[in-house]
Amino acid sequence: MLVLGIETSCDETGAAVVSSDGTVLSDVVESQVALHAEWGGVVPELASRDHLRNTGPVVREALAKAGLRLDQVDAIAVTCRPGLVGALLVGVQTAKGIAWGAGKPLVGVDHLVGHLVSVFLRREGETTQEGLGFPYVGLLVSGGHTALYRVEGPCADQIHELGATRDDAAGEAFDKVAKVLGLAYPGGPRIDRLASEGDPLRVKLVPPMARRGSLEFSFSGIKTEVARRVASGGVPQGDALCDLCASFQSAVTGVLAKKLFEAVERERMDRVVLGGGVSANRELRRRVEELGRQKGIATLVPSLASATDNAAMIAYAGIKRLERGEVDGGDLVATSETVLEQLTRKGRGRRGSSPHAFSVPRRTE
Ligand code: KG4
Ligand code: ZN
Repeated sequence: MLVLGIETSCDETGAAVVSSDGTVLSDVVESQVALHAEWGGVVPELASRDHLRNTGPVVREALAKAGLRLDQVDAIAVTCRPGLVGALLVGVQTAKGIAWGAGKPLVGVDHLVGHLVSVFLRREGETTQEGLGFPYVGLLVSGGHTALYRVEGPCADQIHELGATRDDAAGEAFDKVAKVLGLAYPGGPRIDRLASEGDPLRVKLVPPMARRGSLEFSFSGIKTEVARRVASGGVPQGDALCDLCASFQSAVTGVLAKKLFEAVERERMDRVVLGGGVSANRELRRRVEELGRQKGIATLVPSLASATDNAAMIAYAGIKRLERGEVDGGDLVATSETVLEQLTRKGRGRRGSSPHAFSVPRRTE
């Protein structure tokens, strides 16, 4: 099966052609980073308008790079949730138009499911990673989401949340801290670079919610702590800036890696998989790989192109729905909410003792 995937949930316009075994025939990503950089974050209306301009050309380029005509693909997969609704709408409406015009089945995909299965993609020159398969504990760390899942299969109803952030996503914290430090958007890769030259022990930042037992995260406190330091002492320069970045990165990646392996222990799994833009972070990768080696757990990390937003992971997740006989119709809607079950309550306040105390009814994709 060959599927054309379309992704427009945030600030990348993507189109890709992927086959059932995860082979990426083409993957085109048109980034809007430069467009949003001067605002220090994604401006939803600008994102929608840019998707409108770019979706057609990006889809044509993906087909051309795969050496295929539209009538040679078997179906169209599109991100329909979660994300910026205006941005999602552009992709969903484009996909509906293409599917209807070409007489192909249409399938909607949850962006988070895409990230969680992105490790199955095989790009040119890549081989299947050893030990890849289900089930696994998935750590999704992106600009919009941070959560741990028990992943039993590639479809939404096989993915169960173990804990998520109560406030900011990890990538959001990287981006906001970078902004406070006067670094350009997106801040994650910049902090990663500066941190590699700093000493994480010179500035003391407390790892957020590091206590054992809870698989929930919180990143807004550490972001505020950095902002408070900058407000009182100004933006550090030179080595001091590198040290602060190193300390922040160490605190965030430390707690992510620690909870990932606590989840592995709790779920009695022997495999972990990363997904999302923050899984590009070198310290996070190093920590996870090191802990995996120590504990005898297979650690599977997508390539950089698969970790950040792309349409290939959407096409692949779409294929898995199609293989189960699932298709959507012209009534497919774009929505800001994920289809995955959510146990973690957002915001402050006391939590119940049961991990299921705040579960919401499961929706079907
Ligand atoms: O998955 P993604 O491309 O988009 C979302 O779905 O959000 O993730 C983007 C996020 C941004 O917050 C960006 O700063 C972060 O991933 N990021 C990184 C690194 N590369 C990208 N964060 C830390 N270290 C990196 N090397
Ligand atoms: Zn994403």
